[in-house]
Amino acid sequence: MLPGGVTATARFNKALGRPFYIARGDGAYVFDLDEQPYVDLCTSHGASLLGHNHPAIKAAVTCALELGIICAAETEHQVALAEKLRALVPCAEMARFSSSGTETMMHGLRLARAATGREKIIKFEGHFHGYSDFLNFSWAPPPAQAGPSNAPLPYPESAGIPGMTAQTIIIAPFNDPDALEAIFERHGREVAALVMEPINYDSGCIPPQPGFVRRCRALCDHYGALLFFDEVLTAFRMAPGGAQQYLGVTPDLAVLGKAFGGGMPISALVGRREVMMHLKPAGRAEMSGTYLAHLTAVLAAGAALDEYSRPGFYERLDALGEHFYGSFQSLIERSGVKVRLQYVGPRFGLYFGLDPDRPVVNYRQAAQQDHEAFLTFVRGCIRRGAYVHVSAHHGFSAAHTEADLDRALEAIAGALEDVKRSSR
Ligand SMILES: Cc1ncc(COP(=O)(O)O)c(C=O)c1O
Repeated sequence: MLPGGVTATARFNKALGRPFYIARGDGAYVFDLDEQPYVDLCTSHGASLLGHNHPAIKAAVTCALELGIICAAETEHQVALAEKLRALVPCAEMARFSSSGTETMMHGLRLARAATGREKIIKFEGHFHGYSDFLNFSWAPPPAQAGPSNAPLPYPESAGIPGMTAQTIIIAPFNDPDALEAIFERHGREVAALVMEPINYDSGCIPPQPGFVRRCRALCDHYGALLFFDEVLTAFRMAPGGAQQYLGVTPDLAVLGKAFGGGMPISALVGRREVMMHLKPAGRAEMSGTYLAHLTAVLAAGAALDEYSRPGFYERLDALGEHFYGSFQSLIERSGVKVRLQYVGPRFGLYFGLDPDRPVVNYRQAAQQDHEAFLTFVRGCIRRGAYVHVSAHHGFSAAHTEADLDRALEAIAGALEDVKRSSR
């Protein structure tokens, strides 16, 4: 009934050869169709930072239902949400909302082009910005088809993308300031925006090297390009102001998603007033749609932001991380399995087959990992009651306790043994 057996490509679980079917979720757990519980280390690809079935999110959605499932209309609630964002996120002088990260990135890119009057964009290899044709390039290219590592070629990640879109995109290696400077020297005055994941979770978990994002900011300023953070995954993840607060660099534009909605479909385009005022009807760049800023999601996002604003929210996540990652690292050392663990806040990446002590700093390094070992690990975790998906990044939520994470660590210990046995 469903092409490939799924309703979204990313839901196919290559380790199982089918999707992992979930009946329901509650707190830190998802339950399969036989009501078996699994500690959730996928957390809806990062959307469920509050865990599943959170009472404040449910109450907010119920409130929206009681208001009459209002759709395609302005209410006081959108204004209130924009005000909350302005208080939390450094660049969020103004906001607009749409339903998914993909959709908002598409609108944001058009806005960047309209605001600068330029067409080219620079994006980093291994960074993912959703599936729109202009951005669906080089987030997981086969290295043999991706060109030289210091000057990668745009690799279309889907069939059906018009070839001419490749002419609007320049791919840069992440964490390589000299290569980036060379690209700006050559194309800087044609560049509308430098688009980036400020922490590259979509290649596992690759933070920027010290000073790199500041260099990006300076190059954009010098050449009159916009610095555009894709904070779909990083928003509210490690700080209430997202990666821009965590890294101390404020972009001109940002897209917030996933955790922003507490599990409901909403994403925000935020940025400097001067840039945002290019949106119609104030300016000439289009951003509209029947379902934009749907109240069920707007009220849920407002409730989620209230949770992230509670004193101690991030301190507790950090303490959980210290416990979890410390124990995880010990398990890796004890098992002798060659795997590198990298993390920022409650999200982490694993690189099987790579040196446990050597930081992974760019996509080409990440692409050297042993995928078969990773798939064995995923199967081993699921078999033992921890839900790990086959995506690049994994994580826990605020609903997880140390006891839940210890349960997951038991599954992880067993899965590492599976990897060891399979590599003999
Ligand atoms: C960094 C980043 N940008 C954009 C997207 C696309 O967002 P969505 O899945 O809501 O369309 C994702 C989704 O995984 C993402 O991780």
